[in-house]
Amino acid sequence: MVGIKAAEYVNDGMIVGLGTGSTAWYLVEEIGRRVAEEGLKITGVTTSKETAAHAEQLNIPLKSIDEVPFVDVTIDGADEISADFQGIKGGGAALLFEKIVATYSKKVIWIVDSSKMVEHLGKFPLPVEVIPYGSVQLKNHLETLDLAPVLRVDDQGEIVKTDSNNYILDLHVEKIMDPEKLAATLSPLAGVVEHGLFLNKVNTVIVGYPEGPKVMEVR
Ligand code: A5P
Repeated sequence: MVGIKAAEYVNDGMIVGLGTGSTAWYLVEEIGRRVAEEGLKITGVTTSKETAAHAEQLNIPLKSIDEVPFVDVTIDGADEISADFQGIKGGGAALLFEKIVATYSKKVIWIVDSSKMVEHLGKFPLPVEVIPYGSVQLKNHLETLDLAPVLRVDDQGEIVKTDSNNYILDLHVEKIMDPEKLAATLSPLAGVVEHGLFLNKVNTVIVGYPEGPKVMEVR
């Protein structure tokens, strides 16, 4: 429902950032349907290889982030959204491209179900994308900061690699009282490529409730 609702923000001629994950999947489906059935003319900018493959399959015209002057609107999922509309993203390991595309977007819309709306961030482990070289040292350092890092592995126990061939350290912080401070701690660390705190990035949040989607204008 939220994916279909968010697709209403997409109009002819727009450059549209296409998010990643199980919620954004429905948005991509709906945009694909409108391209096929209504002749909607847009250019998509995808945030992962997974979304690119999906969009290509639906014949949505695509360009890379570096081939467009800007992005009109990016619609993406999120893992947690706090009461003051800060977010955690990266549960699907796509945080780096998602943050880059969001940064160059005029408008950002997040689509989530109501279970993701929380008071404070942190129950969802905060993903941090790190380069493999030195990642054991970095993990040790994050432990000394009491950030409880866990190297992400898949069901087979293989280390998860991002679209940029990096690793993910998930920080089990439980409660992030000062997201700005944590972001400022993480960003300068050698080997950290990007973290999943998306601060002051979202303009509109569409939340799915059993009775239907609710639109919240943030900024
Ligand atoms: C991808 O890395 C994430 O940021 C997703 O946008 C986020 O995990 C939400 O995904 P779901 O809609 O599958 O919960």
